[in-house]
Amino acid sequence: MAKLVVVDHPLIKHKLTNIRKKETNTKDFYANVQEIGSLMAYEIARDFPLQDIEIETPICKTVQKELAKKIVIIPILRAGLGMVDGIRQMIPSAKVGFIGLYRDEETLKPHYYYAKFPKEIADCIVLLVDPMLATGGSAIAACDKLKEIGCKHIKYVGLVAAPEGVNALQNAHPDVDIYTASIDEKLNESGYIVPGLGDCGDRLFGTK
Ligand code: PRP
Ligand code: URA
Repeated sequence: MAKLVVVDHPLIKHKLTNIRKKETNTKDFYANVQEIGSLMAYEIARDFPLQDIEIETPICKTVQKELAKKIVIIPILRAGLGMVDGIRQMIPSAKVGFIGLYRDEETLKPHYYYAKFPKEIADCIVLLVDPMLATGGSAIAACDKLKEIGCKHIKYVGLVAAPEGVNALQNAHPDVDIYTASIDEKLNESGYIVPGLGDCGDRLFGTK
């Protein structure tokens, strides 16, 4: 079984509380999501493999370390977009692709509508980004798609997960590492995470 990491740094906890508050406006919501994205990237990068590289400082030649694998960030549209800039601040060399999925409000099943991937993604470390892991359907469908094109190193990165979504993703894709800022209590009858933060896409983009 791959990793399940709750990244519960005090700064992340504080910012997560900010975005849970119903009175937080669109601007502050986005700013906090972005900042949490940066902080999580720092934690997730802990086990990125390194390789030796010979360089020359102004003083002498030396063998130092650099990242051994290319990193690709894949947000699930729309809400995943909110974390991309924050992660890119920490990993500016990362390429970015996109998967478009929306959840049917009645059935809660994900519907696929778009994908665009950088070249040679199969050998990269893929950070699959979606703030909300509710039933897990969207993250599972996104991993299915990424594996269809050969991705072997996938890490799911989110903010708030329901236990139901964590179990479903682990069962469907036991090789995918899961990083989340919180595992909340449960899903409600409408498929929303409790206590959660509401509809993340709508809160990020001011659409409701
Ligand atoms: C939300 C969220 C996830 C999905 C999680 O997206 O951003 O993608 O729901 O739910 P699940 O784990 O039950 O699949 P939504 O479908 O509302 O689309 P949006 O981001 O475009 O608003
Ligand atoms: N999607 C969201 O944006 N919020 C939830 O609580 C569940 C799914």
